[in-house]
Amino acid sequence: MNNWPSAVTIKEVGPRDGLQNEAIQVATEDKIHWIDMLSEAGFQSIEFSSFVHPKWIPQLKDAREVAGHIKRKPGIMYAALVPNAKGLEAAIETKVDEAAVFMSASETHNKKNINKTIDETFPVLEEVVQKAKQQGMRVRGYLSTVFGCPYAGDIPAENVITISRRLLDMGVDELSLGDTIGVANPRQVDEVLQKVLENISKDKIAMHFHNTQGMALANVLVSLQHGITTYDSALGGLGGCPYAQGASGNLATDDLVHMLHGMGIKTGLNEEKLKEAALFIQKALGKELPSHQMQILNRGG
Ligand code: HMG
Ligand code: MG
Repeated sequence: MNNWPSAVTIKEVGPRDGLQNEAIQVATEDKIHWIDMLSEAGFQSIEFSSFVHPKWIPQLKDAREVAGHIKRKPGIMYAALVPNAKGLEAAIETKVDEAAVFMSASETHNKKNINKTIDETFPVLEEVVQKAKQQGMRVRGYLSTVFGCPYAGDIPAENVITISRRLLDMGVDELSLGDTIGVANPRQVDEVLQKVLENISKDKIAMHFHNTQGMALANVLVSLQHGITTYDSALGGLGGCPYAQGASGNLATDDLVHMLHGMGIKTGLNEEKLKEAALFIQKALGKELPSHQMQILNRGG
């Protein structure tokens, strides 16, 4: 194997995907400080919150305040999850750079997560994508449960491809394929990516792994071999989806960076600054973060 990319882009989703699933409500000022620390660590993209209904995701109900107070560094894309036109209004008002629309390849998960069938979701997202583009925003699309659903089990690759194509035809600039509950294995990632990449350019695809079964890094390796160079992760391994039973932490940014740097693959991230940011959010949450890097640090390594 000698076709590793020389550099990859890591998109930090901890302030959104990480904090949305934490029982503890992190103080708004701590979120802002943490995001500012992440901005200093070298990310090109930070998903800082969600403009969803506060009853559905109370942890992120302060999205407007966070958006208004973070120090925006030139060159960094500040992204937020946007489920519908109402969410987009807030994203426009708060000058978000990238709106991230989301839906699921599983009918049941889609319904539980955004209260719509898959067919009902398309026009809602289409409106968001069109309006966001008119405002000059970048648009990302998330497709969840690509490798399995807690309610529906296996998801046929054909469904993934059909929905992915529709999202790209709507105009999303990038599509992030989500292993929402962390059930994917490397062989499955290989098989799904083979099929997806017959239909969609690899430059449009990002991978979004959760680490429930400890397989996220192995799944990244297979994706790297397919030439995918954009990965979502959350510092310290925070994360999960409250509307997907069994979903636990995201692939940990610090573990991903450790592996990639060890392989000589550039990320543009500063490991020392990442460590400081991970220690800060660990303290704010009052619990040890699950990443390997943080376990080593917490044991005094
Ligand atoms: P709904 O109840 O069907 O919405 O929720 P509705 O359109 O029927 O409106 C009902 C009320 O909600 C109305 O208020 C609306 O104004 C209000 P009322 O008139 O009753 O006073 N409303 C809103 N309020 C604030 N912000 C909004 C908004 N929209 C409507 N944007 C909705 C539909 C999509 C809003 C709801 O289901 C929701 O907020 N869901 C969010 C679920 C979520 O955030 N899940 C986690 C993120 S996805 C994820 O983690 C997976 C990912 O990481 C990838 C992976 O791992 O696979 C991305
Ligand atoms: Mg996720």
